[in-house]
Amino acid sequence: MLEGLKRLEYRGYDSAGLAVLQDGGVTNVKSVGRVANLAKLASGKNLTGTTGISHTRWATHGGVTDANAHPHVSSDGQVVLVHNGVIENYVAIKKFLLTKGYTFASETDTEVLANLIAYHLAKEPAAPAPAPGASAPMADASSRFLTAVRKTLLHVEGTYGIAVLSPAHPGELVAARKGSPLILGVGENEHLIASDVSALVSRTQNVVYLKDGELVHVTGSGFTLSTLDLADVSPVIDQVTWSVEDAELGEHPHYMLKEIFEQPQALENAMRGRFSADGSTANFGGLNLTPADFRIIDRFVFTSCGTGWHACLVAEHLIERYARIPVEVDYASEFRYRNAPLDRDALFFVISQSGETIDTLAALREAKRKGYKCMAICNVVGSTIARESDGGIYQHAGPEIGVASTKAFTSQLLIAAMFALYVARMRDMSFSEGVEFVKGLKQVPDLAARTLKLAPQIEDIAKRYSKFNDFLFLGRLDLFPIALEGALKLKEISYIHAEGYPAAEMKHGPIALISEECPSVFLVPKGELFNKVVSSMQEIKARKGLIIAIAPESVELPEGLADETLRIPDCHDAVLPILATIPVQLLSYHIALARGCDVDKPRNLAKSVTVE
Ligand code: AGP
Repeated sequence: MLEGLKRLEYRGYDSAGLAVLQDGGVTNVKSVGRVANLAKLASGKNLTGTTGISHTRWATHGGVTDANAHPHVSSDGQVVLVHNGVIENYVAIKKFLLTKGYTFASETDTEVLANLIAYHLAKEPAAPAPAPGASAPMADASSRFLTAVRKTLLHVEGTYGIAVLSPAHPGELVAARKGSPLILGVGENEHLIASDVSALVSRTQNVVYLKDGELVHVTGSGFTLSTLDLADVSPVIDQVTWSVEDAELGEHPHYMLKEIFEQPQALENAMRGRFSADGSTANFGGLNLTPADFRIIDRFVFTSCGTGWHACLVAEHLIERYARIPVEVDYASEFRYRNAPLDRDALFFVISQSGETIDTLAALREAKRKGYKCMAICNVVGSTIARESDGGIYQHAGPEIGVASTKAFTSQLLIAAMFALYVARMRDMSFSEGVEFVKGLKQVPDLAARTLKLAPQIEDIAKRYSKFNDFLFLGRLDLFPIALEGALKLKEISYIHAEGYPAAEMKHGPIALISEECPSVFLVPKGELFNKVVSSMQEIKARKGLIIAIAPESVELPEGLADETLRIPDCHDAVLPILATIPVQLLSYHIALARGCDVDKPRNLAKSVTVE
């Protein structure tokens, strides 16, 4: 369990705990801080049981304290439980349980679950003994414990991924999900349950992805799946396609740096097998849509969160420019409540690296509820969003562990460019333009590798600029989302205040921030807007602002205008956002290092946000 928790550390947490059934009772150990603290505490406890549950907590209800850490034990000591998610009606449940004599030791919403299961367990009649000569009933049919968990969950509003034990039922473990991911690993002589494949993959590659509303009942002789309304479910065992080494740090000092340098490979993987034989377009088998379906689409709606939302903005530019179909982009967290009127023939897309972000999942469900076909661009195979969408495109970027998304973002940009090409070729793009486009895309892995050679120059710049506490990132059209992404990366891992703006918009307000203390990072385009961006740079320079320019090799910047210039390779226009991203990733990484920040475990952040 400790190894599993260690492998989940990257997801962000503030406390950790574990409980083991042994000697007829529960040994529960928990502590604020790192898993290493928990390991130290646990080593003094002589843990001998073979059934246990463990958890890392990212605080929602109640502060970061030992008492609020999971596992939580019911006040009668009969139930112990770990929980991801939020129980929305916990106040009403707590009131009820107080009248029944149950007490509470934490400020969490989770503790009501432990007590409510204990309440139902106490009420559940013992199974009648089998008649002489008759075989014993199936464990499931007679499991008071499973029934108590099921009854509890019928009263719960909110989201959960739970694992539950009872010292009175030492041969059983029950886990269930609604809105929070849960995966069963089927190992050799063991079963493992986790919220993320990376916790299991060192023990088994055979996994069952639970669906919302499903429970798994694990006993010494195997496992069964069922639904809350008592239907049996036949398990589908999937194979995890990556190995434990893919998720390890190797020679690299940080996951973020490892993943930045994996980008050429991730980009190659995103394209593999996805170009037509005539080299003029892309193919996406997983979309489950025919060219005729595409002909009637009159709008795409893209939603996502965080970095994925920036990828949506780039997709908007590329699709509108090359395929000439309107695109609307919305934050998933806003879309789900906005009740936006949608065109009749809109096609809905979500982008999510993890495939588990609850806001994005909710947006997908809302669009499906309204009857729209929904596609997903996801990295994690088998994730909830990937499974609930009507079709989609897997990124194949490999596991992304760093909290700050890097390789997943550039791979989303490449898929967006390929998708724009795919739709454009069904509309007005000619064969020869398509061939040029494909050639441009195929160069991306090599060009990304060349861009990575800027690392030493960027490290040097970062050392000199790490003293500043405010940054502006400026770009236009499809480089504006890269400005937003640069600002987000810097905020996330170095805690520096940074803002992304369309370069020309800067003079309508943010220019007030400009001084010798607030550098601007410019993403310089080629073509018709080059001169306009240079004018924006002049406006900054005139106000003594420092400028870091990220510009294609062939553009000529006025002498002395930029204080630092990072040259990225010339490329097809659709590829420029990908190459321009790499320097901003490296810049935030090195600035964060220079400021002594913990790059892979940035404060307050979780890798995938599975609560609303
Ligand atoms: C990116 O650096 C962030 N950590 C965050 O914004 C992330 O992109 C967002 O939470 C969405 O995650 P997802 O792609 O896994 O859905």
